[in-house]
Amino acid sequence: MNVIVIIPAAGLGTRMAAASGARVVAAASKQFTELDGVPILVHTLRKFVAVLQVSEIYLALRPSEAAGYQPRLAQEKLGKPVRVVEGGEHRQQSVAHALAAVKAAPDDVILVHDAVRPLVDPEIIQNVIDAAVRHGAAIAAVPAVDTIKQVERTAEGAVIRATIPRAQIVMAQTPQGFRYDVLKKAFAEAEADGFTGTDEASLVERSGHEVFVVMGSTRNIKITTPADLELAEFFLKHSS
Ligand code: CTP
Ligand code: MG
Repeated sequence: MNVIVIIPAAGLGTRMAAASGARVVAAASKQFTELDGVPILVHTLRKFVAVLQVSEIYLALRPSEAAGYQPRLAQEKLGKPVRVVEGGEHRQQSVAHALAAVKAAPDDVILVHDAVRPLVDPEIIQNVIDAAVRHGAAIAAVPAVDTIKQVERTAEGAVIRATIPRAQIVMAQTPQGFRYDVLKKAFAEAEADGFTGTDEASLVERSGHEVFVVMGSTRNIKITTPADLELAEFFLKHSS
């Protein structure tokens, strides 16, 4: 059984740019921002290369960034094949492009992980792999700590319609791991139905396969805004 990793890294980082002001709008996307002198994307790649069962990585990049980045990747000497594929308009398309390039057996495990979650730890990766082998589909998630409200957007603002019992809520992270046959089927069905989800699990859920949850970490943040960059720097400094 092989473990193949897909890393979508073709986003524009619009929320980061919007919050940073016009000054950085022209800067490279957030996955190339350096943390402790190393690009976020490289931090993330190193985490997965270090996992014994991982055989290769598919990296989705914007075509305009891919060519320039190849030498940087080669320089990293990651020790496992990193195959660059063209990213798409949406995260799901970027993952679909990578999945189309993957050659795998039905019971191989495909892990999908956001390029901008560099603080994932080896235990979480291993737990997702193990649960995906056992159940066919599993993701990392953390319990909700805030009270969760369902709202309706009205002309005058949001109005609460229900309070969702917190015990029934988890917040999805990545990695998300699936048997290759399970993920292929889910993507084929989503494409046929024109369904777009914000994670892979939502595609697998609608395809009728149960997705199990393993404990993620509050350190496994998705770097979205400038404040997240500061938090990631803090976590990094206090992890060694
Ligand atoms: N991603 C991608 N292809 C896209 C959009 C997103 O590969 N068309 C990737 C991002 O590079 C990131 C991950 O999906 O690693 C999670 O997306 P997100 O945090 O939303 O990043 P961006 O889309 O870049 O940011 P924003 O939504 O603020 O524009
Ligand atoms: Mg996005």
